[in-house]
Amino acid sequence: MNSILDSRPDLTKVINDVAEVTGYLWQNGWAERNGGNITVNITEFVDAEMAAMPAIAPIQPIGKTLPFLKGKYFYAKGTGKRMRDLARLPMQNGAIIRICDDCASYEIIADEPVMPTSELPSHLALQNYLLETGSCYKATLHTHPIELVAMSHNERFLRPDEMTRVLWSMIPETLAFAPLGIGIVPYTLPGSVELADATLEQIRHHDVVLWEKHGTVAVGKDIMDAFDQTDVLCKAAKIYMCARLMGFEPDGMTPEAVREVQQVFNLPTKRPC
Ligand code: 13P
Ligand code: ZN
Repeated sequence: MNSILDSRPDLTKVINDVAEVTGYLWQNGWAERNGGNITVNITEFVDAEMAAMPAIAPIQPIGKTLPFLKGKYFYAKGTGKRMRDLARLPMQNGAIIRICDDCASYEIIADEPVMPTSELPSHLALQNYLLETGSCYKATLHTHPIELVAMSHNERFLRPDEMTRVLWSMIPETLAFAPLGIGIVPYTLPGSVELADATLEQIRHHDVVLWEKHGTVAVGKDIMDAFDQTDVLCKAAKIYMCARLMGFEPDGMTPEAVREVQQVFNLPTKRPC
């Protein structure tokens, strides 16, 4: 069967990167069953032939009107699809969608009529924000990292400043590579527009957003970058939990040591692009 990826090496590379990352998600234990989802803005790879492709399934509503997405193209994981299957067969477990001119609905153009993820409102709200702000970021990743989700079951870690402080103080690299820290969204129904709106508010000022008792959402220049953002924070959570398992509350780096890293490495206070 023909694929939209045939004779499109640049697009194929981006989809293969998604497939590589979904393998990592599964190996990390973050992607039980159909857990987690991904979108990548692939508009830059759309040629005239692709732009002329008809919809292969009925038009569907997004649930939100997102003006900066008009005519944009995304690869999205399919709803109910497994990350571990997507790792082998990305075009059977995901779809390429085009946002319609009303900016409130989308159509599927390839390869198969796979319905995109139920978290599409959150992903597309973030994609709209990235385009609105002229960001170079293209990828959004929602996953279920065990340690971070476990921490979200405790009231102490639902305070975003406290959660960020603890994670930053576990290892200097967390601070260096997640300098905006982690935002928190109180428990909200999966797939809802309310969850999308709350996530958008938090991602403006944070590298990663933690959905209470559910998972994380990260944005990245590409899917590897979005994975790294999540991985760096999850590493800090693992160190915290290892210390607790050894029977003590970890000291953490001192506030002075944290400030020193921030100053010496001149860490950004907003997203670099
Ligand atoms: P989908 O299978 O619809 O992508 O949902 C998975 C998930 O993690 C919902 O939050
Ligand atoms: Zn989820």
